[in-house]
Amino acid sequence: MLLETISKSKYFFDLEYNHGAHNYKPLPVVLSKGKGVYLWDVDGKKYFDFLSAYSAVNQGHCHPEIIEALESQSKKLTLTSRAFYNDVLGTYEKYITELFKYDKVLAMNTGVEGGETAIKLARKWGYLKKRIPKNKARIIFANGNFWGRTLAAISSSDDPSSYKDFGPYMPGYDIIPYNDLESLEVKLKNPHTAAFMVEPIQGEAGVIIPDQGYLTGVRSLCSKYNVLFIADEVQTGLGRTGRMLATDYENARPDILILGKALSGGVIPASAVLADNEIMLCIKPGEHGSTFGGNPLACAVCLAALKIVVNEDLAANASKLGEKFRSSMKNYSRISSIVNNVRGKGLLNAIEIDNTYDNDIAWEICLNFMRSGLLAKPTHGNIIRFAPPLTITDEQINDCISIIKNTLENFES
Ligand SMILES: Cc1ncc(COP(=O)(O)O)c(C=O)c1O
Repeated sequence: MLLETISKSKYFFDLEYNHGAHNYKPLPVVLSKGKGVYLWDVDGKKYFDFLSAYSAVNQGHCHPEIIEALESQSKKLTLTSRAFYNDVLGTYEKYITELFKYDKVLAMNTGVEGGETAIKLARKWGYLKKRIPKNKARIIFANGNFWGRTLAAISSSDDPSSYKDFGPYMPGYDIIPYNDLESLEVKLKNPHTAAFMVEPIQGEAGVIIPDQGYLTGVRSLCSKYNVLFIADEVQTGLGRTGRMLATDYENARPDILILGKALSGGVIPASAVLADNEIMLCIKPGEHGSTFGGNPLACAVCLAALKIVVNEDLAANASKLGEKFRSSMKNYSRISSIVNNVRGKGLLNAIEIDNTYDNDIAWEICLNFMRSGLLAKPTHGNIIRFAPPLTITDEQINDCISIIKNTLENFES
């Protein structure tokens, strides 16, 4: 039986290894089915998903209403390009702009395209409205940021595994420390600065939460210096942190809001950039676009995915169960010799593992979680992120807390 299991999984490991680029190091589990908070591997073993495809599956795997929207739209019309109108895009645009209270939305596909779009928009606004001299516009980022893998994105990264040996890099960027309003103000004073793009909580950096008041400070400083505040809520948005948007915690309304990942419930790549007319209408026909952006299939899926976040009040569930999860893990960390820190908001949480003696310890722990039926992955070596689908129930989170604690306990002993 064990041999069969190994050989079945091994077949898929080998296929990917032999025919795919080696740009990922997955946990050794081959998944073939997902439903709600659960995943199953090719041998039928069931797991709790504690990654949610990096927060893209907030609504749970294969949510019936999203799948229904996907199926029915896929039989009618999937793609026309934006050379013509389609009868779903406008309905979706109306819904999402009313939901987030912006005048306009620009539909793209991946999160990184959302970031690129926001920066292009900010530069254009900088030239047309702020009268920044030609090609002088600057964008500020915070260190530890992660917004994807394109050249524009890695040019703002301070993580060598993202940027090393991929230069030359995008000019016009300033990198400042995260959670540091003083450094921000210094750069904002530069009259060529068009925007500050920031994650309200840095997900990939290891769930780094800025001080209370940081986002309000960003908002008011950006207003003071006539610089756009771009919030990258690709990972934190759509209920993940216990509010619809993480910026809602401080009522810090960004000038440009970027959404992705859970916008489609993990069903199809879809991202969105929201802004008011003063900014969005700086881009004119022919100046930006994408063959697939705003396609009717994605729009139908996104409409269904957004309605689930609203109707099932996933933010409230994330807030309630997130509190419970953190308080259990904090109690555990007090008696643990390897869990140094527990932090998070809503259902975006992380534990920090003491890896003084062994660099791979977080990876080993994740392998043990996997054996115990829970899937999570380390980020930045010693941090393990916990981000289950927001549809998780009280009973299920209790089960997960037990799995995590028991696994850690066994590991420690
Ligand atoms: C905050 C943030 N922005 C942007 C992205 C990029 O999204 P995508 O991988 O869909 O391009 C990510 C991906 O993890 C992210 O966490």
